[in-house]
Amino acid sequence: MKVEMSVLLFLVLSTSIVNGLCPSNCSCNTYVSRSSVICDSGSLKDIPDLPRDTYFLFINNNQISEIPVNTFVDCEQLHQIVLNSNEISAIEPFTFMNLRNLQYLNLSGNNISHIEEHAFGNFMSLSTLYLTSNPLNCNCSIYPFWSWLIERTTIGTSAKCSNGTFVISLRPVELEKCNPNSCQCFNGGTCRTRNDGLVDCDCIGHWTGEFCQESQCISYDCGIGDCYIEPVNGTAQCMCGNRYVKYCTGKLCYV
Ligand SMILES: *[C@@H]1O[C@H](CO)[C@@H](O)[C@H](O)[C@H]1NC(C)=O
Ligand SMILES: *[C@@H]1O[C@H](CO)[C@@H](O)[C@H](O)[C@H]1NC(C)=O
Ligand SMILES: *[C@@H]1O[C@H](CO)[C@@H](O)[C@H](O)[C@H]1NC(C)=O
Ligand SMILES: *[C@@H]1O[C@H](CO)[C@@H](O)[C@H](O)[C@H]1NC(C)=O
Ligand SMILES: *[C@@H]1O[C@H](CO)[C@@H](O)[C@H](O)[C@H]1NC(C)=O
Ligand SMILES: *[C@@H]1O[C@H](CO)[C@@H](O)[C@H](O)[C@H]1NC(C)=O
Repeated sequence: MKVEMSVLLFLVLSTSIVNGLCPSNCSCNTYVSRSSVICDSGSLKDIPDLPRDTYFLFINNNQISEIPVNTFVDCEQLHQIVLNSNEISAIEPFTFMNLRNLQYLNLSGNNISHIEEHAFGNFMSLSTLYLTSNPLNCNCSIYPFWSWLIERTTIGTSAKCSNGTFVISLRPVELEKCNPNSCQCFNGGTCRTRNDGLVDCDCIGHWTGEFCQESQCISYDCGIGDCYIEPVNGTAQCMCGNRYVKYCTGKLCYV
């Protein structure tokens, strides 16, 4: 009997995801084919299962303290996520993946001190990343996020360190303060011990720099297109609108 009940429950739950029923304690509506899920001020402790076609997600002012890995991976239609004023304290690796349509992400007013490497996937459309009012700790652990950010100049962000400095205005030279012996290598680089006993970073793809924090986008000219680093091989790629190009003039895109 118990087994049957749980099978039944499973069927009901999975049906609710596939059919895109509105999560409990939230309200949902669809306007010109764009579905909104609105769970503001709902005392939620977890992000609910979302309908696949969710376009706008509002969960501000709840009690969410963590976002499990791959929470949004099946929600490719998401264009806006508003999660401000919750209790999130860290962004784990692979939290925001597969969100190529996401334009707006609001994480302001949480308690985020730490953003792990690979927390954010390759956002193709993101233009605004609100991170104000979070106590970001700009010790060496900020550098993966910093390095991700400086490669994506089209993303506007208000992210500030807890001491008031904008993350975007931290400079590579400050990496020198991070003890190289602790061997922090970014972007998939690994530590290796050289013949002389010193430890350095073995970078992959076209990442360079002492900590593999620099890439071709620093000097690669895409015209008015966006330069981004191809995640697998680390090479610079240009995007003009939604096309891959070598150089973007703004009027015509030359492949
Ligand atoms: C929905 O709201 C009720 C009343 O505030 C609460 O007891 C319940 O835990 C909430 N459900 C979820 C899934 O958060
Ligand atoms: C994003 O968060 C900030 C700070 O909490 C808030 O002022 C702003 O209204 C939020 N934006 C939206 C669309 O909710
Ligand atoms: C914020 O996070 C810190 C740990 O980073 C924790 O000690 C503190 O209790 C949190 N504050 C709130 C309001 O959740
Ligand atoms: C850097 O800050 C993070 C987040 O507060 C913390 O977890 C970590 O221990 C700190 N690392 C060092 C080396 O101080
Ligand atoms: C804040 O911390 C960062 C990283 O340690 C440092 O580079 C910056 O100068 C500090 N800003 C202020 C205003 O102290
Ligand atoms: C890197 O990957 C991109 C996209 O898959 C591809 O176009 C490019 O040729 C690759 N470059 C190298 C050097 O492998």
